[in-house]
Amino acid sequence: MTENAPFPDQSDRSFLLNPFPWYEHVRRESPVAIDVLRADRSLVPSAIEETLRYRSPIQRLRRFSTAETELGGVRIPAAGHVVEAHLGSANRDEARFERPEEFRIDRRPNRHIAFGNGVHFCLGAPLGRLEAKVALEAFLERLPNLRVDPDVRLEPVPSNTFHGVTPLPVSF
Ligand code: HEM
Repeated sequence: MTENAPFPDQSDRSFLLNPFPWYEHVRRESPVAIDVLRADRSLVPSAIEETLRYRSPIQRLRRFSTAETELGGVRIPAAGHVVEAHLGSANRDEARFERPEEFRIDRRPNRHIAFGNGVHFCLGAPLGRLEAKVALEAFLERLPNLRVDPDVRLEPVPSNTFHGVTPLPVSF
């Protein structure tokens, strides 16, 4: 199978340059998570990894087959058949993660594939992680009362590839 990596820069715009979703996801999945993070900043990196696993910003990737093969008991025909990898689903694989439906900011190990896998592993992963860390730490430090408007119904990004919310009204 070959990879054709039409990388969508949307993930940057939606999930890094506008980092509120990170904060919001953490807050929503575990209401006490923010307080725990405030008390123990050393958990910020693992909280970011868990957010990537639990709310994978890119939900699926596409490949085209070049040779007949079998994957997970499914026959994939040769040449040009589209095969989709659902990262969000893989990141909740119960064979891989203990109680995958739980959002645990201290999850270890956490070998998710939110940045892909293999030769096309995300080139920007270190930058993405750093940006998320800087943003989350700044929120914790400077905006102790930052809250997402509880009355607003969050709308998902209109996409079956990208995962996130838009817009996200906040007060602080
Ligand atoms: C949370 C943020 C991000 C997520 C979830 C993400 C996710 C991914 C995923 C899943 C792939 C694999 C695509 C594939 O195999 O077809 C990928 C590839 C890539 N990403 Fe990211 N990415 C993020 C941020 C970034 C940033 C900040 C940059 C650059 C500054 C970047 C640059 C790239 C590039 C160049 C590739 C293609 C690598 C290749 O094909 O060899 N990404 N990303």
